[in-house]
Amino acid sequence: MKPLHSLALKVEGGKLWVLDQTRLPDVESWLEGDDPGVMVGHIQRLSVRGAPLIGVAAALCFARFAESGAAKSALEDAFQKLRRARPTAVNLMWAMDRMKAVLDEGGSVPDLTRVAEAIFDEDVALCEAMAAQGAALFSPGEAVLTHCNAGALATAGIGTAVGVIRRAFELGKVSHVFVDETRPLLQGARLTAWEMVRAGIPHTLITDSMAAILMRDGSIQRVLVGADRVAANGDFANKVGTYGVAVQAAHHGVPFHPVAPWSTVDLACANGAAIPIEERAAAEVRGFGALRWAPESSPVFNPSFDVTPAALVTSLVLDRAVLSQAQLNAGMLSRL
Ligand code: MRU
Repeated sequence: MKPLHSLALKVEGGKLWVLDQTRLPDVESWLEGDDPGVMVGHIQRLSVRGAPLIGVAAALCFARFAESGAAKSALEDAFQKLRRARPTAVNLMWAMDRMKAVLDEGGSVPDLTRVAEAIFDEDVALCEAMAAQGAALFSPGEAVLTHCNAGALATAGIGTAVGVIRRAFELGKVSHVFVDETRPLLQGARLTAWEMVRAGIPHTLITDSMAAILMRDGSIQRVLVGADRVAANGDFANKVGTYGVAVQAAHHGVPFHPVAPWSTVDLACANGAAIPIEERAAAEVRGFGALRWAPESSPVFNPSFDVTPAALVTSLVLDRAVLSQAQLNAGMLSRL
């Protein structure tokens, strides 16, 4: 396999490595990702996370497993396990189905490697295309809000929503970024804030419950978020809390844009009700890591994602187009 490098994933000396995102921002440690069983654990613990990146990581892991001489039956088993590692981000199924198609057509090990490398390279190019499409929306000097982490840590490239923000900042169109902390696993506080510091982008970290005040006061001109799955009608799933941000943005007349590559669009889902939502462990809400602040016996509701209806979307930024709410309503997504 050729050497590959992104912020949170690399192939070095022929081995696959992922940055352990659970340890950021303080510790940068790399985990081996060649074994499918181990990679499933990395994905489920969110050591590797973000819709595009879990697809890229799973495909590369599958190819590395093939390169190690795995038998066809072991590959079939690894395919099932990797594809099912998390249920909401469709990029995982999209990438694994591409790998399985090569296997089913009798492709060789080098064929599997080539397709996995192409999935990585394509994701880099999709991020650049989204950045170009999205940056065109901004007027000079806007302050934006983002939720969760849709940055370079979540993709092989510069990110989806954060890639757009980064490009717009370089063009003088973004002056400040408000970063939602993103309860319960703090992807905004731990990961997006870390990316902002590294990129030198002026930013302010807020708890999720503070965004409405800033919108009321006119401090936020635009909201950009990522997506884990976009349905045919433009409804989309993203990190839990996104729906609430969209409701607040609509109330305050703040433009709201999900940003996603084509690999996140699932035309087989007619609308958001068809998107499977991952439920995670109660401990993630009762506390964080080893620290617990709620009674151990308190029942918990912990969906990892929510669905924002297309009715709250100003426009959807894709790699190949920006679709307005009217265009989404007219079914343009399935005609691109
Ligand atoms: O649970 P996570 O951290 O994988 O959730 C990630 C998100 O919800 C992102 O916003 C989404 O995957 C888009 S990443 C470009």
